[in-house]
Amino acid sequence: MNYKIIACSLLLISINVKAQQSKIEQKVDSVLNLMTLQEKIGQLNQLNAGDVTGPEDKKNVNILEEIRKGKIGSLLNVKGAKITKELQQEAMKSRLKIPLFFGQDVIHGYRVIFPIPLAEAASWDLDAIKLSARVSAREASSSGIHWTFAPMVDIARDPRWGRVMEGAGEDPYLGSVIARARVLGFQGTSLGDLDAVMACAKHFAAYGAAIAGRDYNGVDMSKRQLWEVYLPPFKAALDAGAATFMNSFNTLNGIPATGNSYLQRDILKGNWGFKGFVVSDWDSIKEMVAHGYAKDLKEAAQMAITAGNDMDMESNAYEGHLAKLVKEGKVNIDHVNDAVKRILIKKFELGLFDNPYRFSDEKREKAELNSLANKAASREVAKKSIVMLKNETGILPISKATKTIALIGPLVKANQDMRGFWALSWGKDDIPLSLYEGVRNKLGNKTKLLYAKGCNINDSVTTGFRDAIETARNAEVVIMAVGETFDMTGEAKSKADIHIPGVQEQLVKAIIETGKPVIVLVMGGRPLIFNYTATNAKSILFTWWLGSQAGDAMADVLFGDYNPSGKLPITFPRSIGQIPIYYAQTHTGRPFEEGKSANYRSAYLDVSNSPQYAFGHGLSYTTFKYSDINLDKTEIALNDTIKISLKITNTGKYTGEEVVQLYIQDKVAQPVRPILELKDFQKIKLAPGETKQLVFYIEKEKLSFYNDDLKWIAQPGDFEVMLGSAADDIRLRNAFTLKD
Ligand code: NOJ
Repeated sequence: MNYKIIACSLLLISINVKAQQSKIEQKVDSVLNLMTLQEKIGQLNQLNAGDVTGPEDKKNVNILEEIRKGKIGSLLNVKGAKITKELQQEAMKSRLKIPLFFGQDVIHGYRVIFPIPLAEAASWDLDAIKLSARVSAREASSSGIHWTFAPMVDIARDPRWGRVMEGAGEDPYLGSVIARARVLGFQGTSLGDLDAVMACAKHFAAYGAAIAGRDYNGVDMSKRQLWEVYLPPFKAALDAGAATFMNSFNTLNGIPATGNSYLQRDILKGNWGFKGFVVSDWDSIKEMVAHGYAKDLKEAAQMAITAGNDMDMESNAYEGHLAKLVKEGKVNIDHVNDAVKRILIKKFELGLFDNPYRFSDEKREKAELNSLANKAASREVAKKSIVMLKNETGILPISKATKTIALIGPLVKANQDMRGFWALSWGKDDIPLSLYEGVRNKLGNKTKLLYAKGCNINDSVTTGFRDAIETARNAEVVIMAVGETFDMTGEAKSKADIHIPGVQEQLVKAIIETGKPVIVLVMGGRPLIFNYTATNAKSILFTWWLGSQAGDAMADVLFGDYNPSGKLPITFPRSIGQIPIYYAQTHTGRPFEEGKSANYRSAYLDVSNSPQYAFGHGLSYTTFKYSDINLDKTEIALNDTIKISLKITNTGKYTGEEVVQLYIQDKVAQPVRPILELKDFQKIKLAPGETKQLVFYIEKEKLSFYNDDLKWIAQPGDFEVMLGSAADDIRLRNAFTLKD
């Protein structure tokens, strides 16, 4: 096909899409014309009818009756083809027969559980991340679910915040490309396809910047920081077609996000032209009263709808007060109509008006849930999510011919913990595989496996140490598993102390002191602090919570069937006092240089400025050489593009993957720019001895930033371009100038 034919086909597709949209809008208008005010408000009302994922508030509501009266537009947490069909049948008894939406937090898998989102982000593998969302969408949609409350695209730079596990980490660029991959994965080829669910970019906005890392706390930040760091992943989700957005619990500069018209009307629906609908978070309309922003629920309802919040999750604020507010002239009916229209458009797009039961298909559900292909996909993504933090004496990979291996630690046999925090729909008969089971599956009975728990996760009892030491002494190699249980990091799981809990590090010390080769696996949902282990263990893998196939995935890496390729998407501190710590910091007027005097410098008296593990860090069983950096020009005008090439060679013994990271620094700018900013990356696979040439492009967009007036500009001047294996492992540098 030549260029003209492609352009014509694209034009025809876009004309067709527009024609379809306008047809849907006409249909929506005709439904809207038939609706009473009460029925309109019903469409804006979402209630929980299943698992409880927020503070329970006993409401005396007969859900079935309310559905029949047209007083509910959506239910959350209902799952299963049978039950969703039955509930939809009730909706068909309402006067206008408007179908319900079923929404759920399908965050990292539905029945087959995938690694937690932060772990998946560590893969830096956009196809793998998309695959995870695709499989989740296929499973969930077969169960009658239309809508996932994911992806969470909140940037998080404070590991005390428990929900750090649910996003893609600290960086706006990485966060944006991952947001896009997840939306595309959930929504598939087209909304309305039977294997697609609506995505929901959440939590709009800045929820991840809760003061002191305490969940639900307020957020105070400059607009520039908001636009530059926290909003880009939302914009990327929108550009990828996210059907819905969820606002957030936090106040932003004193105004609750749910009642924030700057965020929802000006930015999202105005500036960005978002055509989907916004749902509140659980009770977040009601919480505007607790915030001291609205005097009662009625005023909260008025503020939320006026500010652009379309659907009310669980607060019963709209159902209880909107009709009166409209009648009193306090709420503009256009705002109500607009919200209803946005929701109905999506119901039409999903084909629910044609067939409200089309997603609730028990036969498809049976074939789809927990299928072998879905489990295999989970294992693929899981092994790519593991990050090797250290492998000093090359103990890893372990030889499969090892005769006796000791598995020691309180998480060795943990299986349910492997599912992570947001696994709502895992089946009780599909319990995830523990590390122990994974090692056993890998080695069969040829290797003797010894086991000692050693201690509990979080108490001070050390009586199990003696047995653990004895067990270690009887083995050739020791694999330890320490960290957190699945419920220690997640929503409402903020922590002031993020050290590995209990006496687990003392256990690591006792086992290392046996002199045996020890590999430590650290499991958890957030960056943890484990300084003893970091200094003294020779080999460390961070294995997060990897989902259904965790055990097999860990064994794949431990025994060399998969060469680890994960890179941290978030900085790991060495001290709680360093938080917030992230790589893209700006210079100070008194920068401190490692090894030099700290007097009158920007430094701590008691700890280094550097993190324990930097953003982008992650090792492989092989090594990579970076060479031959070349810039095709060293001066560019505003509309030029620079081509940067380099060579990467696998200099080790194993085939392996490297994530080549491209950072820039704008040397002098007003306002000042970060010391490093990730602008691109490529993940490549190389056989031993193989060399590949990579090419990156830098153009104006990558050099631009928000100035103090929130204008997106690129300032002429000198730039440094850096290519490396981690934010603290830059291998190649070069410079160029942006001309006026
Ligand atoms: C509260 C959480 O903040 C949100 O992310 C989630 O989607 C809702 N609960 C529903 O479970």
